[in-house]
Amino acid sequence: MEESERVAIVTGAAQGLGFSIAKKFVADGMKVVFIDKNQNRLNEIKESRFMDSAISKRTMFLSMDVSNVTEIKHGVRTILDTWGRIDILVNNAGIRKETSIEEIDEKEWNLILSVNLGGTFFFSQAVANVMKDQKHGRIINISSYGGQAGPLTSGAHYCASKAGQLALTKVFARALSDFGITVNTVAPAAVKSPEMDKIAPEKLERMKAGIPVKRFGEPEEVANIVSYLASDMAGYTTGATFDINGGLLMR
Ligand SMILES: NC(=O)c1ccc[n+]([C@@H]2O[C@H](COP(=O)([O-])OP(=O)(O)OC[C@H]3O[C@@H](n4cnc5c(N)ncnc54)[C@H](O)[C@@H]3O)[C@@H](O)[C@H]2O)c1
Repeated sequence: MEESERVAIVTGAAQGLGFSIAKKFVADGMKVVFIDKNQNRLNEIKESRFMDSAISKRTMFLSMDVSNVTEIKHGVRTILDTWGRIDILVNNAGIRKETSIEEIDEKEWNLILSVNLGGTFFFSQAVANVMKDQKHGRIINISSYGGQAGPLTSGAHYCASKAGQLALTKVFARALSDFGITVNTVAPAAVKSPEMDKIAPEKLERMKAGIPVKRFGEPEEVANIVSYLASDMAGYTTGATFDINGGLLMR
């Protein structure tokens, strides 16, 4: 199948890594659904110079909260009604908090788990049958170094949600392997994004000094790995985790 017929969904696509991934899919020639809860930022992208008329025809912007299962189902229905298929899902939407173990309350725990892990599970569940019927699909979960090694700059709830994504990757990879569907994880650390900008400058300097390549990652570097995993070239890779962390974690 031509790349131009592929339909890709990116959650958390309004900024940061998700925006870079969605832009890369647009450059790859696919039809791309930008999903985010930040409606204003989605509108800004829609109205930006990036959107020429040719690109407008093969992009869709859906404002939704990935922790809301009803909204996910509705979004999937809208995409199918418009383009009739879903080839690629990137579960990138996430929230990070640095709250200490002592201070995490039930509300914050549930919020982080329901967005980062619940969003990944329920969105994957919602597209799995569509991909099965097509006998083709790619699911890519954006986890984190925090889910592999423990916190660099984030709380227990964030790390647990990101570790959970690693398990979901393997669960879905095994369940869907007979249907031409691959499921993989990309695990970044310290990649430039609006979220990274919230970290105190002194802390960022200390972080950088500890990274073997001595710099932060570019969002395009994450997008390039995701683009490869989404492509037909990556059909023999499933259940795997791809580290993109400047050598911070070697295993
Ligand atoms: N930047 C990094 O260094 C880094 C490192 C490790 C992991 N990650 C992971 O990469 C992903 C993207 O991170 P980023 O740094 O670009 O973050 P970011 O905060 O800059 O962007 C996240 C996007 O997700 C959206 N979002 C948040 N909650 C949502 C919800 N409930 N429903 C829909 N959209 C929602 C936000 O509106 C935002 O546009 C996250 O899953 C994060 O955990 C990033």
